[in-house]
Amino acid sequence: MKKVITYGSFDLFHEGHYNLLKRAKQLGDYLIVGVTTEQYDEARGKLNIIDSLDERIENVKKTGLADKIIVEDHVGQKVEDVQKYDIDIFTVGSDWIGSFEYLRDYCEVVYLERTKNVSSTMLRTKQHPIIRIGVIGTGRIAERFVPEAKYVSGVIVHSVYNPHIESARNFAEHFELDLYSDDIEAFLKSVDAVYIASPHETHYEYAKTALEHHKHVLCEKPMAFRKAQAEELFQIAHRNNRVLLEAIKTAYCPGFAQLVGVARSGAIGQIRDVEACFTRLTPDNLRETTDTEYGGGFTEFGSHTLLPIMKLMGTDYQEVRFDSILAENGIDLYTKASFRYKNGFALSKSGVGVKSEGQLIIAGTKGYILAESPWWLTQSFEVRYEDPNKRDKYFVKFLGQGLRYEISDFAYMINGHQGRSYKFTEEESIAIAGVMEEFLKQRKQGTNEA
Ligand code: CTP
Repeated sequence: MKKVITYGSFDLFHEGHYNLLKRAKQLGDYLIVGVTTEQYDEARGKLNIIDSLDERIENVKKTGLADKIIVEDHVGQKVEDVQKYDIDIFTVGSDWIGSFEYLRDYCEVVYLERTKNVSSTMLRTKQHPIIRIGVIGTGRIAERFVPEAKYVSGVIVHSVYNPHIESARNFAEHFELDLYSDDIEAFLKSVDAVYIASPHETHYEYAKTALEHHKHVLCEKPMAFRKAQAEELFQIAHRNNRVLLEAIKTAYCPGFAQLVGVARSGAIGQIRDVEACFTRLTPDNLRETTDTEYGGGFTEFGSHTLLPIMKLMGTDYQEVRFDSILAENGIDLYTKASFRYKNGFALSKSGVGVKSEGQLIIAGTKGYILAESPWWLTQSFEVRYEDPNKRDKYFVKFLGQGLRYEISDFAYMINGHQGRSYKFTEEESIAIAGVMEEFLKQRKQGTNEA
């Protein structure tokens, strides 16, 4: 019996897939089809798969061509499968010519002709027109955003807005954007969605204006400094049926999503304490340290540290207390925010003038999770127990600067798929704005100074 194996994502199952499976089957007597998991696709840069793994498997099954269907979830699995299933022929479409020569050590490799003029990518684009994104603000983060957006299919960064036209022009020229403007109305007319990367205190106003103009909004953190403002933004978004997402990139990274999943799985028992630290020594001529109203360690990095706290301990804390070391100009160089919950605690440490170990520790009744610095670009974490010999280490791929994940989820939601909104919820976003508000109030009153 001649055994054949082939692999694919088989998203939005189409004629090309059917033809490929039919030809693959004709190569032998028994056909195994490997269908990729979402995580594996993400790890190899395919961020926009629409159908769930179940649906994709079901579609392959429905063809009646596969004798066995397996799931492909890691690099190197093909070599394992070929040996494990005693495969005679490995086959894929001709778009992969040359990519699988290494398998010739184990079996025959056949590249089948690809069906012309159809692909999942084409169908995804047809189903959902390209989303034109406009960038508001031209600072450091905006410069990282544009190259990252190129990795997400279905979106294009089209224009840029800055009240200083020179900055807008330079940015547009540098990134070869179609349009730049200092006129917010004209700018908004040119786009479907905006990415807000302007100074912190302007986020809320820009987000509000964009949502009122029926634009989807991806807003840099902190989205708002007041809880009521965050609530209002989400209300407008609902009313106008637009997507509003706060851009805390960690929330959308596959590694962090997995960490949250493991923490909530019961692996460490009940979660009782979350401790998150993020510090970066910042020169004293930058906005973070010179903006006496909204600069400082907590407004800058607190969104990062509050994310795992709100996600894992919940948004219903009973009490929060801030302790800060202040600079002469009044901004906080270092802040500890201590939360008390019904069944536990949480601690956020953030700073621009004090350096500490940037780690995340999630303590539970059976063990704990340690994610080492930089945990906010989660690539690995470890589950540890009382018995030091028992440790589970997880490694997860993190591509580029990581912004591509939030852009991909943003596009996915704009296209009407809600499946990823759990990664960072409206409630969590609003709660974080509430903590920021409380912090700024106390800093103003000077009651948080060490
Ligand atoms: N395939 C094919 N003809 C097409 C499209 C795909 O023969 N028109 C083959 C691929 O070469 C591969 C298998 O079908 O062997 C599964 O491909 P997959 O990557 O899932 O499909 P694509 O449509 O190429 O997906 P995408 O656009 O996301 O890359």
